[in-house]
Amino acid sequence: MSVGQYQTRLLGDFTRTSIFPTLAERIQEAFLSCPRHAFVHRYRFWNEAEWSELTPNEYHFDRVYRDEPLVISGDGEFAYQSSNSQPSYILGLLENLDIRPGHRVLEVGSGSGWLTAIISRLVGASGVVVGIETIGQLAHQSRIDLMELGCDNVRIIEGDGRLGCASEAPFDRVIFTAGLYSIPEVFFNHVKMGGRLLAPFRMAGHGDVIAVLERVADGFCSIRTFDGYFVPVVGAPTPLDIVRLYAEPRWSLLMREMHTHQPFWWGQSNQMLGTIQKSAAFRTFLSLTKGGSVRAVDLGSGDGALLRRNFAFGFIDFERASAGLVIDGGLAGYGAPDSFNNLWACLDEWMKYGMPTGANFQLAVTLEGRPSSPNKNEWIDERDGTTFVWTLLH
Ligand SMILES: C[S@@+](CC[C@H](N)C(=O)[O-])C[C@H]1O[C@@H](n2cnc3c(N)ncnc32)[C@H](O)[C@@H]1O
Repeated sequence: MSVGQYQTRLLGDFTRTSIFPTLAERIQEAFLSCPRHAFVHRYRFWNEAEWSELTPNEYHFDRVYRDEPLVISGDGEFAYQSSNSQPSYILGLLENLDIRPGHRVLEVGSGSGWLTAIISRLVGASGVVVGIETIGQLAHQSRIDLMELGCDNVRIIEGDGRLGCASEAPFDRVIFTAGLYSIPEVFFNHVKMGGRLLAPFRMAGHGDVIAVLERVADGFCSIRTFDGYFVPVVGAPTPLDIVRLYAEPRWSLLMREMHTHQPFWWGQSNQMLGTIQKSAAFRTFLSLTKGGSVRAVDLGSGDGALLRRNFAFGFIDFERASAGLVIDGGLAGYGAPDSFNNLWACLDEWMKYGMPTGANFQLAVTLEGRPSSPNKNEWIDERDGTTFVWTLLH
């Protein structure tokens, strides 16, 4: 198969699997003009331990043109630092960004530079793309690969993208391809009024809600939201990091006090999906409505196989010696029953609201303080001096 045929196959994968019904013609053209393999040198799939060096032949093309993310930096299963994102996912993000010729675009977490190249084509000769990447070696290699593809409207900066890029601001579009805890204040000035900022926002129970936000008078307001997962933005630690329970001595005592372990199927029988995928909607709901009291935990032995079987989330209260967790295949209660009862009450509430997903919430982010009392169907989260207001839409 030719590279063109592989790329066309990926466009077909998008049509078959994407949650977005359309893909603009100009995005398809930009995509076809940027071969993925030109930005991949050493790669592995995320459940592979071995690295592959890409040489341009049928074997590697057949692999790198699959609709899967490719790990390009970081060792250890699920411990990767950078990936060349899943093509259909990238196409969906681009469809939502609505990038136009002449736009100034900032991509935070530009990694391999492949998405940067596609954006470079979309903005054309009159536009500008700035990519910021924290891993120096990737920033360096992407500059070379972008130049070879003739993307001369691009500037790649090595550094912490949370600081933005004042010298090139303001931007019509900003995209973060790593999970953010909050919107750094500088981005309230970086995005032009009416411009868009697309970012994955990290949730307490793990995973992200991806929001396509428009810059409005008092901050940002979402045009669309959906569930997803990206690697977290590196930099300051956040209160949402996964709790390594295996390293917590109080857990080894509490886990012996399991009083309930009941199966829960999330209304699905798809054997291909694990609890982590099936519970995504509830996880988001729990994170939005219960905020900081929800924890994502690793129950394993630290072997790194977190997402396969050791992932859990819910409530843990060591002071009261009580835990209620969604674990692989079911729900479990430990010690005093409060946490388990709380988990059930939240499941009940989620069902009463009609089992919403992240896509059913609107997000507004402001620099102002918390409103004195939230409206009905509204939940408020203070994150690093910004206020996140999540509203359940009907
Ligand atoms: C999931 S990869 C996405 C790469 C590329 N944008 C794509 O979609 O294929 C996320 C990238 O964000 C980078 N990153 C994480 N934190 C960052 C930060 N604070 N500043 C700049 N880049 C960061 C990572 O090194 C990684 O390359």
